[in-house]
Amino acid sequence: MSEVHVFDHPLISDKLTRMRRVDTSSQDFRLLLKEISLLMGYEVTRDFATKEVTVETPICEGQFPELKDRLVTIVPILRAGVGMVDGLLELMPYARVGHIGLYRDEETHQPVEYYCKMPQDVAESTVLVVDPMLATGGSAVDAIVKMKERGCANIRLMNLVAAPEGVRAVQEAHPDVDIYVAAVDEGLNEKAYIVPGLGDAGDRIFGTK
Ligand code: PRP
Ligand code: URA
Repeated sequence: MSEVHVFDHPLISDKLTRMRRVDTSSQDFRLLLKEISLLMGYEVTRDFATKEVTVETPICEGQFPELKDRLVTIVPILRAGVGMVDGLLELMPYARVGHIGLYRDEETHQPVEYYCKMPQDVAESTVLVVDPMLATGGSAVDAIVKMKERGCANIRLMNLVAAPEGVRAVQEAHPDVDIYVAAVDEGLNEKAYIVPGLGDAGDRIFGTK
């Protein structure tokens, strides 16, 4: 079974609480999401492999660690996942970005794919699937299936807020994929929105409602 890493950090909690406020503007919401994504990025990448290299400092030669490779692909689920990309790119400017477009059908709540564009060598890279919201889990489960169909074997899922139902759905469908999340909320309402959540993340990021 995959691991669920829930971030317990006062800076992340404080920023997330500001995002939850109904009167937080799109401008502030976007900035806070970027900041939290960067902070979460430290922990999501904690076990990245390093190798020892020889380096000449101004004082002497020594052996020091550097990343074994820089093969990382950030995969935002459109639209809301795009709001997490900039923070992660600040941390890993060499990362590639592959986009996957899914929206939830308003009646069935099932994800519908409308776009997918990945880097050619995505199968060899560590894949970070990112989306602020993990509600029923349908979108994340589907996005991870698409990545596995492309040969990806090292996939992590990064969300801001999750419902327990979504966590369970991803763990059942993808027991090999660890989940990193800033908060696990109470559950879902009748429209499959996370409660208390923060509303429609895409609309709040892009100011579309
Ligand atoms: C939201 C969110 C996730 C999905 C989560 O996207 O960004 O992708 O819902 O719900 P699920 O876990 O039940 O699948 P939405 O469909 O609203 O599209 P948008 O990002 O374009 O607004
Ligand atoms: N998508 C969102 O944007 N918010 C939710 O609470 C659930 C799905």
